[in-house]
Amino acid sequence: MILVVKSGGEAALAEWRAHFAEFAPGLDCRWWDDPSLDPAAVDYALVWDPEPGRLARLPRLRAIFGSGAGVDAIAADPDLPRHLPLVRCVPPEATQRMGEFVCWAVLSLARDARRMARAQAGSAWDYFEAPFAAAERTVGIMGLGAMGLRSAAMLRGLGIPVIGWSRTQKDVPGVETFAGEGERDAFLARAEVLVCLLPATPQTQGLIAAPLLDRLPRGAGLVQVGRGVQQVLPDILAALDAGQLSGAVLDVFEPEPLPPDSPAWTHPRVTVTPHVGSLPSRRERARYVAGCIARLERGETPPNLYSPERGY
Ligand code: GLV
Repeated sequence: MILVVKSGGEAALAEWRAHFAEFAPGLDCRWWDDPSLDPAAVDYALVWDPEPGRLARLPRLRAIFGSGAGVDAIAADPDLPRHLPLVRCVPPEATQRMGEFVCWAVLSLARDARRMARAQAGSAWDYFEAPFAAAERTVGIMGLGAMGLRSAAMLRGLGIPVIGWSRTQKDVPGVETFAGEGERDAFLARAEVLVCLLPATPQTQGLIAAPLLDRLPRGAGLVQVGRGVQQVLPDILAALDAGQLSGAVLDVFEPEPLPPDSPAWTHPRVTVTPHVGSLPSRRERARYVAGCIARLERGETPPNLYSPERGY
């Protein structure tokens, strides 16, 4: 069986091979652009951003594995073989890591870690009171998938009140939930720190913009760990300058890498992180993909399948 890989660059292949040798012995792991590879011999593909049209040229392909939780860069391929399972990469470690990142980001806003970092860069002893106590502000999570649920549980473990919004109604113990367009404004009005964990779909494109930000309580915080295409960065910066937002932790951008001349880099109320919110290790991802391949080989359905109707 052959698995072709395009994730992390060719330099990462040796590492992928070593991990797959551990979790799926017998699987031949090859680089995407390996000139000696016969396209008709490829069974599985593990990819982050394949060139459009390339997957359609693998006639024996049986499933496609995204190397991330969001497979928007794969689904954007107009020639994507839509009859094949497209599996999102959500190993348990990914949700734990995202939960840790969200807790870190919310606590960073509560303590104004950005201000402390700026002071340290200038060797300044800037003694100040934390802008707010985390447990006194309600965090509103948009997107209650595996990552949103884990983040909610971990925030609650820190004593932080959490509400949630999702496309369809979800029951989450200890979390007041809101669903659909009709309940979005009521949710936003209560979200003193907004965490965006939505997938990139046509519906979420450009969502984090002035009309939404204006619905938040004045001085809200923003943690953006969805996708860069969901945000209008000038609107976020304007909301920060106007005091509508008090601080933002932004992990995703469009384009990435964030260009060096972006005003987000130097904005005093923005913490920029380089799309690392949930970065499971290659070993964790190889174990997950190997498990999914074993299920497929047994004729079972793997978890976390992309749905073209839902768009994620
Ligand atoms: C990262 O953004 C991912 O989709 O895993």
